[in-house]
Amino acid sequence: MTRNEEMNLPVLPYTPEIAAATRADYAKVAHVIPEIEWPVHAPYVHAINRLKKERNAVILGHNYMTPEIFHCVADFVGDSLALAREAAKTDAKVIVQAGVHFMAETSKILSPEKTVLIPDLEAGCSLAASITGADVRLLRQRFPGVPIVTYVNTSAEVKAESDICCTSANALDVVESLASDTVLMIPDEYLAQNIAKKTRKKILTWAGHCEVHERFTGAQIRSLRQDNPGVIVLAHPECPPEVVAEADFAGSTSAMISYVGAKHPKRVVMITECSMSDNVAVQYPDVEFIRPCNLCPHMKRITLPKILHSLQSLTFEVKVDPLIAARAKAAVDAMLKVKPIETRKAA
Ligand code: 13P
Ligand code: SF4
Repeated sequence: MTRNEEMNLPVLPYTPEIAAATRADYAKVAHVIPEIEWPVHAPYVHAINRLKKERNAVILGHNYMTPEIFHCVADFVGDSLALAREAAKTDAKVIVQAGVHFMAETSKILSPEKTVLIPDLEAGCSLAASITGADVRLLRQRFPGVPIVTYVNTSAEVKAESDICCTSANALDVVESLASDTVLMIPDEYLAQNIAKKTRKKILTWAGHCEVHERFTGAQIRSLRQDNPGVIVLAHPECPPEVVAEADFAGSTSAMISYVGAKHPKRVVMITECSMSDNVAVQYPDVEFIRPCNLCPHMKRITLPKILHSLQSLTFEVKVDPLIAARAKAAVDAMLKVKPIETRKAA
């Protein structure tokens, strides 16, 4: 039998039965996956969708997953905040995180009684790798009394040392919810600088960066506009401030998707990870997507064969020390309780 090189997994055959059983799945992604590629994906889509029912498992798919994962096997899709909320709600016994390690840890923190799996343990994140729990303890000593807002793109250990977490979708709401005039926002320097422009509070930060978003430049956006007249530029707030300044809108991955849904621009460019445009193009085939391609090597470690292997072998289980998990949960729960600014004003 042929083997899948990456993890020495068997390559599943494409049969007429599988072709028939996955016809509806292919229809969802036909706009972005050429027909010739479907026989590679279909046997896995079929096997995963059967096995996840047997295992009472759900697959949480981040917006950066490739379209065959995002549209054909994920039960819930969204940005980091939406996936964290879903992890807290689900009744399933097993959660497969089609995303990166910090997301799986967040799921485990919110659902300690569930089996949380990540299909590839090496799926990390440059932001999460930029700071340790010991670093946060030192920051606390250096800035006594200053609340520490920690981006969810961090390890459980770092969350455990923090007062409250945030995602790119709620970072401003979280900062504004705090009584202090000075706030430490870690570890994403650019997210912190972008939020600093929207608040009166003094924002201190850390020199962590997302290796995908830090590569975009203001000059690149200007040249994209020149080459694609009328294009609407949407940028993720992990981008450098000079990039956000050139954009028409900045927001979390889901906020960018909502922008396309609400405004239906003719031409759009999403200044973020590459796969997201493919996923959104499926939903809005009439919108033209310009695609400068920056891939996240960590997100791209998650593939259909690895998801299947994860469900078959119940690996790789993500565990968090219960004492750390309890403290990290307090920071995540504090975030989940924050109401959006608009709601708070109306209340
Ligand atoms: P959001 O989906 O929360 O916007 O985060 C983007 C990201 O880089 C996650 O790794
Ligand atoms: Fe981390 Fe950036 Fe990859 Fe997201 S896109 S997982 S922030 S490296």
